[in-house]
Amino acid sequence: MKLIKSLFALLAVFAAAVVYVRSTPDSAGYAVAANPSPAVPADEAEIVEDSMHEFMEYVFQPTYRRLKVSMATEPADNNGWKAVKSDSLILAESCNLLFARTPDEDAADWNKHAAASRTNGSELYQAARAKEFAKAATAYKSMLNNCNACHRQFEDGKHILEP
Ligand code: HEC
Repeated sequence: MKLIKSLFALLAVFAAAVVYVRSTPDSAGYAVAANPSPAVPADEAEIVEDSMHEFMEYVFQPTYRRLKVSMATEPADNNGWKAVKSDSLILAESCNLLFARTPDEDAADWNKHAAASRTNGSELYQAARAKEFAKAATAYKSMLNNCNACHRQFEDGKHILEP
């Protein structure tokens, strides 16, 4: 009887240890599943708006217009930097969505412009995180040059954006 009792006690300790290890929170305080599986598999991704015109008009244009205002002078406070972080991240990640919208002709050039814009957008985001305005301004101008490079090649030079 004593042996059975101590066996049960041992089992309880083991079970508690397993539960603890499986639900150890990450640094943000969320419990990390032992075997995380993505909620939405990659092949579930699908394009919502397949018109390039609408995509640029409703995702890129308003973001660019806000960024232009936020980047006109060095952000004065944390909220100013947050605005730059937000819009640069939206643009950089949205450039990734251009790879799913490659035209039949000159696809390699299209992807090259998209990748360059994304890289500069990411540099702008990182500079905004570090609150380094000179670096941010350089990345912002380079990004627009690459946005414009695509517009020059694929839009006959329409939509040339100014910093
Ligand atoms: C890979 C090519 C490509 C890249 C890179 C690109 N664009 Fe565009 N953009 C287009 C095309 C194509 C159009 C024209 C869409 C249409 O009207 O059919 C366009 C149009 C626009 C317009 C005009 C929208 C309107 O309604 O008149 C804006 C603003 C714009 N882009 C912003 C940006 C910004 C900002 C970036 C960079 C962060 C960018 N684009 C990067 C292809 C690109």
